[in-house]
Amino acid sequence: MYDFKPAAARDVAALYHELLGAADALTADEPDGVANMANVAALIWEFLPDLNWAGFYRVAPAKPQPEPQAGFSPAPELVLGPFVGRPACIRIALGSGVCGTAAASGATQLVADVHAFPGHIACDAASQSELVVPVLRNGVVVAVIDLDSPSPVRFSQADAQGIEALAALLSTRI
Ligand code: SME
Repeated sequence: MYDFKPAAARDVAALYHELLGAADALTADEPDGVANMANVAALIWEFLPDLNWAGFYRVAPAKPQPEPQAGFSPAPELVLGPFVGRPACIRIALGSGVCGTAAASGATQLVADVHAFPGHIACDAASQSELVVPVLRNGVVVAVIDLDSPSPVRFSQADAQGIEALAALLSTRI
């Protein structure tokens, strides 16, 4: 049994220190990326309060067309990965919504009010604020970590830095 629940309420930096330690312990010796994303989504859910969705979208090939045209290869897109929360949009074009913007730009998106974000994709109507952090491998975005909250202005710069450290840890593990 893994018991990685945070010991007690504590400051954000200490919480992320514990979360990273648990994520490192769970993923260090496991080469299966899906297993690692699944466990890290569960850890985020256990450690961070006030979330309604936590998980991954991976950069992956677009769905094959029923009648593929010679010489045309569809651009990659984001495809739903392991998560905790309500069922979500499966495919998101790079550049679309908060996740697609993070993936296309390689930059963290800290969104205090999702309704004010142009093109926000509402997978769960409860979501009010969102944090999306790209996971880079050799400078290329391979996935994003997406956190949603039912509270407005849920995420701080400390949350962004904590999830960025988690993304760096996972770079070669997912
Ligand atoms: N809100 C995201 C879509 C993913 S769900 O929140 C799980 C977006 O705008 O990209």
